Amino acid sequence: MAGVPTDAGAHAPARDFSALASPGVRALACYDPGHDIVALRNKAGAQGLLELGGNESAWGPSLLALAALRSELDTLELYPDPRGGVLKHSLAEAFGVEREQLLLGNGSHELLMQVAQVFAGPDRPVLVSRYCFAVYPLAAQAANARLNVVEALPKDHPTQPRGHDIDAMVAALRPEHGLVMLANPNNPTGTWLTLSEIERLLQAASPKTLVVLDEAYGEFLDHPGCGSALGLLRKYPNLLVTRTFSKLHGLAALRVGALVADAGVVALMERLRESFNVNSLGLAAAAAALKDAAHIATVLHETTGNREALAIELRARGCFVHPSRTNFLLVDFGTAEAATAIDHGLLVRDIVVRPMRGYGLPQCLRITVGRVGQNARLLNALDAVMAETGLSSAGFTSMSKAIAPAERSASAEDGE
Ligand SMILES: Cc1ncc(COP(=O)(O)O)c(C=O)c1O
Repeated sequence: MAGVPTDAGAHAPARDFSALASPGVRALACYDPGHDIVALRNKAGAQGLLELGGNESAWGPSLLALAALRSELDTLELYPDPRGGVLKHSLAEAFGVEREQLLLGNGSHELLMQVAQVFAGPDRPVLVSRYCFAVYPLAAQAANARLNVVEALPKDHPTQPRGHDIDAMVAALRPEHGLVMLANPNNPTGTWLTLSEIERLLQAASPKTLVVLDEAYGEFLDHPGCGSALGLLRKYPNLLVTRTFSKLHGLAALRVGALVADAGVVALMERLRESFNVNSLGLAAAAAALKDAAHIATVLHETTGNREALAIELRARGCFVHPSRTNFLLVDFGTAEAATAIDHGLLVRDIVVRPMRGYGLPQCLRITVGRVGQNARLLNALDAVMAETGLSSAGFTSMSKAIAPAERSASAEDGE
């Protein structure tokens, strides 16, 4: 694959046009996608690159989805259905809502940005929790809206370490808030909220404040008292729920997301939607994926089992593993030096996990749950890195001495 371009040699723009940009965009930093995966794939050895950094599905898409996608290949010269009619029909049935309550997006990322464009602004701030999904601050900033960040639960919280503190969020709510944005379960912490906690927030929010509940990992949320907020839509017209086909359904490359809300909210957001924002391959594959109950059950079962097994192994090695109801684990290695050394040691072994510096958690790495063999490869590599760097299950205390100077400067420069 030599010669495949990557962004490694990209140049900064020759001139600075920032004074011409809107104030929000001027202060905006780009979404940090983590490591340069294409470059890493190109230089990986015989075993190939093990990609555990993006919370993608190790089980891939449903065969029904692939068949539906292939049938679209004969008509690539045609624009996709701008209404997304077939997918909306399937989603309306699956979610128990009307088609008018659905908006499709080029991934849910697009919908999260769009919702802020419509409902946040200079006098309509956005309320989030610390350790929220990184797109919410970007969305607020791009809409020139202030971001109010509520402190998260402490790391030593017995059930939801670093999770969202609903009481603190309720206390921070003001009628002028345009949006509250939160994920359930949350990325990057993996923590979750019960339906009664969500209702507490909804009851406290002004009817003029829209509450966006991001359920990108909602299908994995199997826990007493928990469930999808889709069932609350009738009761709370200011509730918006987003879903994605990138996680459980294994269709991240096709970029399909959905927003479910009151038809009035959807009608407003439609005004900003680019008419062909979801491509025909994505529309067809997503509709088929919803129908493959066997594949869905397999992915849920395997992910849950492998996640808990991986968490046990990681805890046995002395790491602090946040409880998770998602397809990933947030792992705390005690110090930024330890996490950086592990990240680098895994990279040398062609394994990618996600550094968490951008989330204010430099001591943590986020690891996607893989298949049994992939998790075994990860654990073997982790053991090798720990042995090499002098990390011990006593709490990763001997790290700072063990990191080579070259690794230190690399970690200071990569700025994620
Ligand atoms: C919490 C959360 N929301 C939304 C997204 C965006 O997903 P997509 O744009 O692929 O639908 C992600 C992706 O990682 C996520 O973790």
